[in-house]
Amino acid sequence: MKVLVTGGCGFIGSHVVDAYINDGHEVVIVDNLSTGKTENKNEKAKLYKVDICDEGVRDVFYKEKPDIVNHHAAQISVPLSVKEPLMDAEINIKGTIRLLELSREYGVQKFVFASTGGAIYGEAEKVPTDEGYSPEPLSPYAISKFASEKYIKFYRSLYGLRFVILRYSNVYGPRQIPHGEAGVVAIFTEKLLANVHPTLNHFPDEERGMIRDYCYVKDIASANITATKSTKTGMFNIGTGKGTRTLDLYRYTINALRRKGKAIPQEFEDPKRAIARPGDLKVSILDVRRAKKELGWKAIYDMQNGLFETVDWYLKNET
Ligand SMILES: NC(=O)c1ccc[n+]([C@@H]2O[C@H](COP(=O)([O-])OP(=O)(O)OC[C@H]3O[C@@H](n4cnc5c(N)ncnc54)[C@H](O)[C@@H]3O)[C@@H](O)[C@H]2O)c1
Repeated sequence: MKVLVTGGCGFIGSHVVDAYINDGHEVVIVDNLSTGKTENKNEKAKLYKVDICDEGVRDVFYKEKPDIVNHHAAQISVPLSVKEPLMDAEINIKGTIRLLELSREYGVQKFVFASTGGAIYGEAEKVPTDEGYSPEPLSPYAISKFASEKYIKFYRSLYGLRFVILRYSNVYGPRQIPHGEAGVVAIFTEKLLANVHPTLNHFPDEERGMIRDYCYVKDIASANITATKSTKTGMFNIGTGKGTRTLDLYRYTINALRRKGKAIPQEFEDPKRAIARPGDLKVSILDVRRAKKELGWKAIYDMQNGLFETVDWYLKNET
């Protein structure tokens, strides 16, 4: 099948492209390279340097006529979405609608969408949080993802466009940039490699930091393949179902770096401290049983293995 991956030169999108190519698909990428990099591009994929907000994306649909659209391009910074909600909505909501319109017009078979389980539920009363929980998004970024989900469902009900919405937990792994939705692993690793003492953001009453469901990016990529092949239309949480505190993640990162031979100063054992930022949640853990039951997908990597591969990549790509 021919798959059009938006954001295919970004962190997650590039792993998704690799997985599609390994699975034997033809891949076309649409990416404006605002945060994505050509180094991330799989050499077998064809890149169109186009913005999803521009009419030029129509030419790509016209030329390529993709069977599947896999939509990963987005403005991904929560703080930036708070500062510039209009810009966030332009890219994340209007960009998605443009792709849905083109998907309908060009007879796309399925629309796969990267949504956020890590942000959409807000400070959920039920943890782990399942897909039936009513989202209470607390940032323009999360609102824009929720709105996109509603448009996707509208295109299903009116035009029959099949879809899979994947609500990711906090994703980490090689190629991640530090300022994204869930960049804490990238931030800690890059700082530790540069011999800069990292800072841990926390709520005043929780000194060990917030709790997150960290999922390794290769597991996320495999969820995309499974979702594309599945006959199901629907929405699925994608994560590990397990919570980790930021301080534990920090210590695991130091351990992984030390196992790889990197000397970390003793005074870095404890991170510096700062107060949580607007939009930060105390707890986010996803209930991932639906994905297992209906798609037959589950995360394979545990945190130690995922971090080990991640720091290995950062060490090899140190500048
Ligand atoms: N990182 C996470 O933990 C996480 C969690 C939940 C959901 N997501 C979602 O996964 C997707 C990928 O996130 P990521 O972490 O890989 O971010 P990323 O910034 O690395 O990737 C985004 C890609 O989209 C491209 N892009 C941005 N705006 C564009 C535009 N207007 N037109 C064309 N291309 C554009 C960028 O150049 C980049 O290659 C996003 O939709 C994000 O919301 C990420």
